[in-house]
Amino acid sequence: MAKITTLDFLSMKKNGEKITVLTSYDYIMAKALDSAGIDALLVGDSMGMVIYGYESTLPVTVEDVLRHTQAVARAAKNSMVIADMPFMSFATPEIALKNAGRFIKEGNADAVKLEGGRERVKSIKMMIECGIPVMGHLGLTPQYYHQLGGYKLQGKNAHAAERLIEDALILEKAGVFSIVLEMVPWQIAKEISSRVRIPTIGIGAGAYCDGQVLVTQDMMGFSNRKPFKFVKKYAEIWDVMVKAGKDYIKDIKNGQFPTQNNSFEIPDDEFLMLKDSLDHNPMIVKKIHSKSIKEEKSKETDIGSIYSS
Ligand code: KIV
Repeated sequence: MAKITTLDFLSMKKNGEKITVLTSYDYIMAKALDSAGIDALLVGDSMGMVIYGYESTLPVTVEDVLRHTQAVARAAKNSMVIADMPFMSFATPEIALKNAGRFIKEGNADAVKLEGGRERVKSIKMMIECGIPVMGHLGLTPQYYHQLGGYKLQGKNAHAAERLIEDALILEKAGVFSIVLEMVPWQIAKEISSRVRIPTIGIGAGAYCDGQVLVTQDMMGFSNRKPFKFVKKYAEIWDVMVKAGKDYIKDIKNGQFPTQNNSFEIPDDEFLMLKDSLDHNPMIVKKIHSKSIKEEKSKETDIGSIYSS
């Protein structure tokens, strides 16, 4: 199978075939999802929380996304790899172009994604003019957290929804090949999806988007916290990890791992020769002797210091 391209995204929308996207930050996860047949892997700045344990996506750097994109791109034989442009990496069109170019040239990404609406048109146009496919991101844009006043549903009144629809049309005109719609009422996502020719990829935006994206760690249950309303869990990896950790600890404490099956052997005759040689090796005999003298002395000192304190 050939690599999924932006043209495939467009024809999938045309043919009514839903587009599947999941986040990925490392080689092995990307390899698994690629072999599962996912259409695109998003190297999301959600890595800030999921991988690095930050409170938000804001501390994520270009170097972080670059390094993880390289790992994902090495694994993705068929899936499109989309690098997420982190906070402040597209503050001006020039900065945006430079960083997007790095994600393609150094990261081996097939496309980039950036958050924001009409205010990003100049940057988007510059990138597209240089041959960089761009995915938009509207609705809840977590990099605007401080302005939005938290992670909240967007476009929930007529005025805000109208602005969202305008933004989608503006991004389409600017040339994006697709738009992520995050935390938007399903009616508004449906409205947008029917008004743009490019595919919409929803997360918390209902069933009428042209595709869906989730954070893989959320949908696979990597954490034991309650899942968000918009997430469906397909596995309970947290439970698997904790159980494996507990079983490992138990086995080692009980001497049940490693067994002889997990060990390597030296042939008996070689081992006998070694033992004989060790018994007559003056260096080793001397070392063992001097070590035991030292140990005795340090024991004496320890006892001394206990009693003198
Ligand atoms: O960073 C990310 O994972 C994202 C998705 C939530 C769309 O931007």
